[in-house]
This record gives sequence, structure tokens and C-alpha cells, in this order.
Amino acid sequence: MDALEAIRSRRSVRTYTDQPVAAADVDELLRLALMAPTGGMAQAWSLLVVRDPDRRAALAEIVIEGGGAYFSLVRPAQQGHTPEQHAQWGLDYANEALGSYRHVPVWILGLVVPRDVFPTGHSDMEALADEMSVAFAMENLFVAARAKGMGTVPTVFHWFNEPALRELVGLPDEIRVPMISPLGYPTEFPVGLPPRLKDLRRPWRTLVHDDHWGNTRAR
Ligand SMILES: Cc1cc2nc3c(=O)[nH]c(=O)nc-3n(C[C@H](O)[C@H](O)[C@H](O)COP(=O)(O)O)c2cc1C
Repeated sequence: MDALEAIRSRRSVRTYTDQPVAAADVDELLRLALMAPTGGMAQAWSLLVVRDPDRRAALAEIVIEGGGAYFSLVRPAQQGHTPEQHAQWGLDYANEALGSYRHVPVWILGLVVPRDVFPTGHSDMEALADEMSVAFAMENLFVAARAKGMGTVPTVFHWFNEPALRELVGLPDEIRVPMISPLGYPTEFPVGLPPRLKDLRRPWRTLVHDDHWGNTRAR
């Protein structure tokens, strides 16, 4: 599969088989990820690979719990539900949608490792550059994984459960975890978007402006 087709067919995968991923394939993906652009060549990043069965099982629970918190935050409560019932609904939904994370063979954690190379007083700019660079690295990995028949999904559910994640993999305070992803073989690659997301997809012409803000292709 060439790069254009891999970009076109990359989709967020949330249902995985337990088929193992070869160590050589993981290494290839990591090296491709780290060929991404990095602001000022700072390489303010690391990729943490979780393969140990106990640790990845614990990580899956952290992500599913975080997903539960996210779903109960962004979806409205059913009428008459108490906050506790709504929180339980979120967790049940996360378990249903993400349950196969419990046997995904590999997790990749995209980390920011601050290098403190920006001038004093510009730490916000540096933080942004570092997080963008990690996102580029993760996107390289997502596209390369797709080309090799593997699934990934950009995941931030751990933001809702971050202390547990930090403790699990022993992160020092200065290291940030903007994004993580499972890596494994999907039961199938999604084709097309589910109706709820299809309705949200903005036609590309409405998002492109020629020469001047507001001069979009769609009139
Ligand atoms: C910054 C960012 C954060 C995301 N966080 C999550 C997440 O925590 N969990 C998840 O399942 N998907 C997450 N996604 C995936 C999006 O939901 C997904 O990319 C979008 O619905 C489009 O679907 P596609 O990736 O299949 O094209 C995230 C994507 C981005 C770019």
C-alpha cells in the first residue's frame, strides 16, 4: 500500500484481535514515527512501548475508565439519572466500545520530553511546538501502521485518569503524555463513517480558503 492509500484508508480502530504484533514491525513503526518533523530539531519526545501483559492490562483499564469519564462528561444524562447513574452509564458504554483494548498486544505512548531550548519567557511556544511534534510522530506511526495492516487510534482518554497512568509506567513529573494509542490487528478496518460522525463531517471545500479568509471553495 502506498502512502496516499494509507492516508486515505487510515481510520480510528477501536476493536482489536489478540493477534501478536512482531517486534520487528513495532521497531519499524517507531523509527518511522521518529522521522517526523520536530521543531528546531529539538526531538523533545520519546515513545514508550507497553508490551508487558500485566502492564498493558492495567493500561487498558486506565483508558477504559478514562473513556467512561469522557463519555459521561460529553454526552447528556438520560432523564431522571443521578450523576452516579450517569457516570455508570459512561463506564458501561466505554466497556462496550473499548472492551477489546484488554487484549490489544501493544500500546504506544507519545511523550513530550522538554528540552528547554526556547529563550526564557517563551515556554508556552515551546510547549506548543513540542506537542505538535509528538502529534506528527504519532500520525507517521498511524499511517505507517495502516500501510502494514495494523490499527491505531489517537487516544486522550488517559487525560481523565492520568495519575494512574504516570504511576504505571513511572513517568517523572516533567514528562507529558499528550497522546497514546493501542497498536494491533483490527477485527476489521472501519469503512465510511458511522451516521453520527458522517453528519458532522464538513465538506472539504468549506474548510479551504483561497488567498483571503472567508473565500472558501463552497459558496
Ligand atoms: C487530538 C485527538 C484526540 C483524540 N482522542 C480520542 C480518544 O481519546 N479516544 C478515541 O477513541 N478517539 C480519539 N480521537 C479519534 C477521533 O475521534 C477520530 O480521529 C475522528 O472521529 C475521525 O475518525 P477517523 O480517525 O476514523 O477518521 C482523537 C483524535 C484526535 C485528533
